[in-house]
Amino acid sequence: MTKLKLPFIREDLLNLSAYIPTPISENYQQLTRLDANESPYNLPLELKIKLASFYEEKIETNRYPDGSHLKLKNLIANYVNETVNLPQLIDNHNISMGNGSDELIRSILIATCLNNKGSVLVANPTFSMYGILAQSLGIITHTIARNDIDFSWNLDLANEVINNQNNPPVKVIFMVHPNSPTANVLNADEIKWLKNLPSDILVVIDEAYYEFSQQTLVSELPNHFNWLILRTFSKAFRLAAHRVGYAIASSDIIKILEKIRLPYNLPTFSQLATELVLENRDIILPSVKEVMKEKERVYQALIKNPLFKVWKSDANFIYLRLTNNPTSENHNYFMEQLKDNNIIIRHTGNGLRISIGTVAENDYLLSKITKITDKI
Ligand SMILES: Cc1ncc(COP(=O)(O)O)c(C=O)c1O
Repeated sequence: MTKLKLPFIREDLLNLSAYIPTPISENYQQLTRLDANESPYNLPLELKIKLASFYEEKIETNRYPDGSHLKLKNLIANYVNETVNLPQLIDNHNISMGNGSDELIRSILIATCLNNKGSVLVANPTFSMYGILAQSLGIITHTIARNDIDFSWNLDLANEVINNQNNPPVKVIFMVHPNSPTANVLNADEIKWLKNLPSDILVVIDEAYYEFSQQTLVSELPNHFNWLILRTFSKAFRLAAHRVGYAIASSDIIKILEKIRLPYNLPTFSQLATELVLENRDIILPSVKEVMKEKERVYQALIKNPLFKVWKSDANFIYLRLTNNPTSENHNYFMEQLKDNNIIIRHTGNGLRISIGTVAENDYLLSKITKITDKI
């Protein structure tokens, strides 16, 4: 194919490797999809019927959505306060809504680093969108390697990067609690380090998997005005299809994010779906316990297999590597073998990440893994 000449496009974008989601083809319902860390459970039918009735009776499709998100923010503030048992901790001024937390990551980068004003620090393996979005905005990402034993940060190395005379200096650090793909929560040293970071660096703590880990740093926010917490409705709340995430931070940071976001970034239907799941969280969230029970079952089965090195998980997914020759080719081979059996997992961060499915999906996965490994 001849190379397109696009002199109007930024040259650095030609080398950008985008995030490639698994294509959803017509037969996707026959696939066992364990690649995106979603909840394996659809919304209960009673809530879907309610949502459909909103579409029929409430939604004026000719009108723009509510661009203030006020009702939603109040419900979220309530939920967040409830999770830490601090009724007054945050209110709607501490929340900004995104079209998925991906949108908020982009807004954070625009607010801190654009125009050569700052660079980003991450520790790999981690969620790839931080680096991809930074690159798409022409922002430099400094990457350090995590310790391979427990995937904690090498804090000396991180300090070295921060203290180097970087041009532009590090302005954002993305921490994930628990991390994807490695599923470990922040340890005490890392949290202490975050508390002592200079206040001219924004600390983003991504708690996309909070409902599974039950570990949060939300109650620390009032003590650290340079901290921001990201959460999403795409995982435990079962709304990945609706694309809703939120940021929690001081009202001053939130004001800036609100300036940057597109005025109608959240479709009305997604707003109503989110309000509905929040109001019915007593129906939605108990499934988290089932997923975590299943995670333990899958983990126990996998660690018995000497072909794998498997890490403990505080989330709804498990990270593993092949014990012998954990090369990219061998991980790809293993992933392709599962794909031939209609099971989709993710090859990322020099290993394999497997999301926890329903009991039947996990049984199917484990039976196929046994068949594949028997042949190796
Ligand atoms: C750590 C982390 N942050 C953010 C996201 C994106 O979430 P959202 O669907 O809200 O854009 C993901 C999705 O997998 C994730 O793993």
